[in-house]
Amino acid sequence: MCGITGFIGSDGAIQIALESLKRLEYRGYDSVGIAYPQNNHIAVVRATGNISRLHDRLGGDVPDVAVAIAHTRWATHGQPTEANAHPHQDCSGQIAVAHNGIIENYGPLRDELQRMGHRFSSETDTEVLPHLIEHYLHEAGDLVEAVRLSLRRVEGSYAVAVISTRYPGGVIVARKDSPLVIGLAEGSKLIASDIPAVLPYTKDVLILEDGDVVVVTPGAVILTDISGKTAHRSPTRVGWSIEEAEKGGYSHYMLKEIHEEPVAVRNALRGRIDNDRAILEGLTISPADWRRFQRVEIVACGTAYHAGLVGKRLMEQILRIPTEAVIASEFRYSDPLVDEKTLVLLISQSGETADTLAAMREAKQRGAYTLAIVNVMGSTLAREADGVIYTQAGPEIGVASTKAYLAQLAVIHLLAIHWAQQIDAPFLNDGVSRPLLVNELERLPDLIASALQGEPHIKSLADRLADRSCFIYLGRGYDFAAAMEAALKLKEISYIHAEAYAAGEMKHGPLALIEPGVVVIGLATQPTTNLKLWSNLKEVKARNGTVVVVHTEGESVPDGSDYQISIPPAPPSLMPAIALVPLQLLAYHIANARGCPIDQPRNLAKSVTVE
Ligand code: AGP
Repeated sequence: MCGITGFIGSDGAIQIALESLKRLEYRGYDSVGIAYPQNNHIAVVRATGNISRLHDRLGGDVPDVAVAIAHTRWATHGQPTEANAHPHQDCSGQIAVAHNGIIENYGPLRDELQRMGHRFSSETDTEVLPHLIEHYLHEAGDLVEAVRLSLRRVEGSYAVAVISTRYPGGVIVARKDSPLVIGLAEGSKLIASDIPAVLPYTKDVLILEDGDVVVVTPGAVILTDISGKTAHRSPTRVGWSIEEAEKGGYSHYMLKEIHEEPVAVRNALRGRIDNDRAILEGLTISPADWRRFQRVEIVACGTAYHAGLVGKRLMEQILRIPTEAVIASEFRYSDPLVDEKTLVLLISQSGETADTLAAMREAKQRGAYTLAIVNVMGSTLAREADGVIYTQAGPEIGVASTKAYLAQLAVIHLLAIHWAQQIDAPFLNDGVSRPLLVNELERLPDLIASALQGEPHIKSLADRLADRSCFIYLGRGYDFAAAMEAALKLKEISYIHAEAYAAGEMKHGPLALIEPGVVVIGLATQPTTNLKLWSNLKEVKARNGTVVVVHTEGESVPDGSDYQISIPPAPPSLMPAIALVPLQLLAYHIANARGCPIDQPRNLAKSVTVE
């Protein structure tokens, strides 16, 4: 998720574009750049790091220009370097493009353009755009038409801003599956990936829709669709403050990021499913290597560890390879039995967690192959592991991990399926064939969106339970893995004592805790173990505990629960991703009802870079 801004007016464009960009740093901040017309070419200034680095680069004598576009990057293709920073240019230096999204077919497009003689200077998918526009400009003779023709070649998602000496007084913008708005100020216009960036200048915005291609000049906005047909869009007057707008109108980043989960999982899967197969390009593991691995150790902390618990079960079922999920801080002191036949899978949102980094280095020293699942491109874990798969979930600001967890589960499924394809594994997966699992995985964003519809019910449940002081989450199999994550969500943002237990263990001790007021949340999404779970819940009810059950729509719900949460059905291994949506919302709304800060809980940090 990157940030694009632009200003089209009479002067001061560079300063305004950069001031606007500052308000989008939460969308990505590993490198930045700006482009503006100068002496009949487009000048581009870029830097790694945040926007202050760009000010240093521009120095004191900032040119006084009327048009500029700027970009802050969240890398998805190509390390966060100056060469990979946006905007990117064509061969002539007459065109510059800033882009937010993923161009899935950039490889073939780049090959085609290189065969035509275009020279590339970055590793990014984006750089194909200015060269495509340059190519079609020769054919069409008109810049706007060249942009349309170029975007019709693109598969994937984009929000783009195009600046060119061929259109000195304006900017061309377009969007598909990535947000873009136009701020309508008197005598000037702004463009931005998100509303906060334009609010200091105007509250009147045009929210673009997929397929829009728009010419923006100081006095006019000419809107067409991708085929060139004139389109109409009514402006919106924004009632938010800037701070509210940075959270997309949500009260907290955590709630915003929960609602981003369908998009985050869609981006995690983007370009990685082809018919009924998973494709993970960029992994340099040969089929012989995949066959060499005889054990898997999944190593992580916190939420990432809980994603690993799902991965353990899934990999053992699909690959029939012994797989363990181990807490990183335990792994490194356990004299781990890993060698060149072990694949050590490290999962981390930040890629900077000290214990996970130490575990990776320990595993490498013992000869294991280290593969990382990471959200932050260019992070230490991403750079040091032998292989890396990015979750592509976009920046996660709230300390409590939500969309990153779901994206990790999606990527773990892609990895297990990809691995199974490489070794023709038996795929004994609760009777779920590979084509069916791939098909259901592709539906996961929609299933998550459907689960989000239940928020009003969850909020009223949270209001009833917010004063309770003890929560126990119960589950079996995948439900136990999900229960672990659900308990962490509640305890870390509401400060209520919450723990997860394997449901079958209740009689071995925890049942003694049950008394009126204790809340037991049972996850009943696994057909093979639901009956046993229901008897556990009946034991709780018999002792006057409060029982909440999470079950799949259509499942009969026996007596014995006080409250029910229903979620859409899916194959067993995908249920943790769906069950956590209402349970994340429950934790959020309980914490909110208790007046907790939520985004920055006490005593916690977003990335635990100390041991
Ligand atoms: C989860 O909500 C917490 N923020 C924490 O447990 C986190 O998952 C853990 O610190 C691991 O972080 P990482 O994924 O960045 O390595």
